Amino acid sequence: MKILGIESSCDECAAAVVEDGRWIRSNVVATQIPLHARYKGVVPEIASRTHTEWIYAVVQEALGKAGVAPSDLDGVGVTARPGLLGSLLVGLSFAKAFAWAQGLPFIAVDHLLAHLYAAQLSESADDLSAPPGYPFLGLLVSGGHSLICRVDAFDVIKVLGSTLDDAVGEAFDKVAAYYDLGYPGGVAIDTLARTGDPSAFAFPLPKLKGEHPYDLSYSGLKSAVINQLGQFQKNPALPVRNEDIAASFQKTAVDMLLRSLFRAAADTGLRTIVAGGGVAANSYLRKRLEERRDLQAIFPPPSLCGDNGAMIAGLSYPYLIRGDRSPLTTQATCRHLP
Ligand code: KG4
Ligand code: ZN
Repeated sequence: MKILGIESSCDECAAAVVEDGRWIRSNVVATQIPLHARYKGVVPEIASRTHTEWIYAVVQEALGKAGVAPSDLDGVGVTARPGLLGSLLVGLSFAKAFAWAQGLPFIAVDHLLAHLYAAQLSESADDLSAPPGYPFLGLLVSGGHSLICRVDAFDVIKVLGSTLDDAVGEAFDKVAAYYDLGYPGGVAIDTLARTGDPSAFAFPLPKLKGEHPYDLSYSGLKSAVINQLGQFQKNPALPVRNEDIAASFQKTAVDMLLRSLFRAAADTGLRTIVAGGGVAANSYLRKRLEERRDLQAIFPPPSLCGDNGAMIAGLSYPYLIRGDRSPLTTQATCRHLP
């Protein structure tokens, strides 16, 4: 069963064709990063306008690379939530029109569930290892979300913990913006941190216990790192090593994630962790999780951690084979629906 997946929830204009929910036949991601870089963040108006200009060509390219005509498809899946409303609307409207015009089954899916599905995808039909068995612990870390959840099925998650303020990717992006390290911040910090000293600065971890055992909070860490920049500016004699700032910030950010995640693993007894979202590409997070030999940590390849159409096409498959269809009146929503 070949499904076209379309993703436009933020600043990636993406489409893919995935066969039987697992085998990626094509995966085209047109990133708008250069258009937003000068603003050091995604400008929603620019994002949605650019999606309208790009979406047709991106879908054409995905079909071409997969070697399939629209008539060879068995369904169309698209992100309908959560995300930037204007951006979501472009992909959703395109997918509805495409499915209607081709007479194809149509399904609108949740972006967060799709990130948690991404680890099941492969570029090669010969390399399809067994998918992780449910239930597992989901670690969803991106620019907009930081969730620790119990995943019982492709469409059933229970949120155990989430951020009380900023998302972890947002903290990477803000710190990088203040220190002028590059955009987007996650990749820049990950790269710089490799040659930095993670113990150069002792940034504090928030005290989250009691009613928040699995929650996260990044605003305090973000402020501490930004305040340190103020110290450097007041005292030019202090040596500023961006590598050390990056490594110390990254260590604390990952320590915080793992503190909550390991608590959740201990309390639920779940030993398998499936990660997803842009921050799941972080090399230090991957290394630290892989060190826990008693847990099985499953990561998508870095190319499937960020937003892409393959995860949307992949997740659409179990819905479509179950017989689910979304009405063409489906609306886009900014929020994740439980
Ligand atoms: O999943 P994604 O592409 O979009 C959202 O749904 O938010 O995630 C983007 C986020 C950005 O905050 C970016 O800085 C972060 O993922 N990111 C990383 C890395 N690569 C991307 N953060 C840390 N380390 C990385 N290697
Ligand atoms: Zn995402």
